[in-house]
Amino acid sequence: MYYSDEIVEEVRARNDIVEVVSGYVRLQKKGGRHWGLCPFHNEKSASFSVNGDLQVYHCFGCGAGGNVYTFVMNYENYSFPEAVKMLAERAGVALPEESGSEGARQRESRRARLLEVNKAAAKFFYYQLRSPHGEIGYRYLKKRELSDETMHRFGLGFAGKNGAYLVQYLRERGFEDELIQEAGLASHSEKYGLNSQFWNRVMYPIQDINNRVIGFGGRVMGDGEPKYLNSPETPIFDKRRNLYGLNYARKARSGNIILCEGYMDVIAMHQEGFTQAVASLGTAFTAEQAALLRRYTETVLLAYDSDGAGVKAALRAIGILREAGLIGKVINMQPYKDPDEFMKGLGREAFEERIRQAENSFFFEVRILQGQFDMDDPEEKTRFHREIAKKLCEFSEDVERDNYLQAVAEKYYIGIDNLRRLVSSYARGTGLAKPIYRPKSGIQKKKGPEEGARQSQRLLITWISTEPGLYGRIKKYISAADFTVEIYRRVAERLFSELEEGRANPAGIISMFEDSEEQKEAAALFSAMLPQLDSRQEREKAFQEILLSVKKNSYEHYISHMGADMGALARAIEGKKALEELAGTHISLD
Ligand code: CTP
Ligand code: MN
Repeated sequence: MYYSDEIVEEVRARNDIVEVVSGYVRLQKKGGRHWGLCPFHNEKSASFSVNGDLQVYHCFGCGAGGNVYTFVMNYENYSFPEAVKMLAERAGVALPEESGSEGARQRESRRARLLEVNKAAAKFFYYQLRSPHGEIGYRYLKKRELSDETMHRFGLGFAGKNGAYLVQYLRERGFEDELIQEAGLASHSEKYGLNSQFWNRVMYPIQDINNRVIGFGGRVMGDGEPKYLNSPETPIFDKRRNLYGLNYARKARSGNIILCEGYMDVIAMHQEGFTQAVASLGTAFTAEQAALLRRYTETVLLAYDSDGAGVKAALRAIGILREAGLIGKVINMQPYKDPDEFMKGLGREAFEERIRQAENSFFFEVRILQGQFDMDDPEEKTRFHREIAKKLCEFSEDVERDNYLQAVAEKYYIGIDNLRRLVSSYARGTGLAKPIYRPKSGIQKKKGPEEGARQSQRLLITWISTEPGLYGRIKKYISAADFTVEIYRRVAERLFSELEEGRANPAGIISMFEDSEEQKEAAALFSAMLPQLDSRQEREKAFQEILLSVKKNSYEHYISHMGADMGALARAIEGKKALEELAGTHISLD
């Protein structure tokens, strides 16, 4: 699906970026911009800025940035056409039907086709479950106490014993064999030809946050192996970045999210009203999933299996949650193995009570740690205390560390001064008392003379875009060629030619870059922090300095390229003249 530049621009212009972003991120106005916690990396103080005048966003922490399309694409994991569709709908803009439908089908992205084939397969499984072929599956789910309503809500289905039916069904609907295989729905063998991958299993469609089926989990009937079979990773199925049930949990408004291990656990909890439950996708919990959860909550309650493997997995998850800046708590599932069994055994109210009593993740870790030492042996006990001290060093904030220190000392009858001494000796020994290094998820830019030149170029572009009237006053001194960074030059070219026509459209300029790294860079260009100065004189002085610095850098750049580039000499001479003239010129800012 292709849309014309005009329609793309109209849809963009009708969706105010501040309004759209506010639907996802809590923003606060400060100094002419809106600020919030960046949804694309983990942070505790706001470095994510949205500029309503220029209609761009930029994160000073991780470098994410772009216009309203980039934002929606990154946040919702949409392709560009999907973002256009969503924003057009939001603003009530009618999109042309299937424009250029000739050949459009082929051009349609692979992603869209994969989503379609999954949707069709989900439908097939869904009807199978409710047909005579699926009776064993239906009975199985009934035995596991799922209501028809729950089965419907989660789109549960069944893959029958004859794997040829699915393939036939999909082929009839125009899906090519190659696509069916790429989606992981079927595989080819000498004996059976193309045959369903899932066979004699109840099927759990896995949906992304926008309710699109991106993969499947299938549970075998009875005791076959493997118990659960999941779709392979595909361009639309990234197991590290999705969570089962999050499409519902994100709307639960429960003040927390419950993280568990199994599909059945999620479904059983939702059925009992705990619609904030999610599970990872047959793999261990990841940092990407933690970042995803952080968009919706501050507190994650772990409802992992109560066996040894579950405890180990919980300990891992706690570390990931802490690193993501989330509060982690652990729900005690005893005497049951998992949430599904707990629901059947003790039910909703008992679970509510367990939620209230959920254990702080640090105390959980210490309690598990204690189990490894014999408290009657002084030597082991000392080692236990040392381990606690080490753990305490993981808190980078002094107040937080000391609060935990006091609490844990009291709980385990450790002399508080002794424990403090132990902690400081570890802190000294390992350098741990210093804030621990948290790698930012973005690229850390190197600072150097280069960076200074880039910064002036960014400041100039941002300043001119914010006060377009300035352009007329400086255009005789500056041109796009003065921007020595390739992408900056392209932006300046376009911006200046728009300014010539009396209309500047920074967000539209971002759309001309297809690569998301380039979009980020362009957005950064429109997002520099202009000096906040009160008097006009100071502001004029600052502007003059920025202009001079850009010009000086450009002059030096062309001087150093004189050997290689024929135009460089002329540019250098022109630059020298402009510099001299500029130094004695007053540029007024009103
Ligand atoms: N899992 C998997 N492959 C397996 C076993 C488990 O992908 N061979 C994943 C599934 O997502 C499953 C979760 O790990 O839901 C938890 O596994 P387990 O505790 O063994 O299963 P239960 O959820 O208890 O499954 P059931 O109640 O259906 O027996
Ligand atoms: Mn189970």
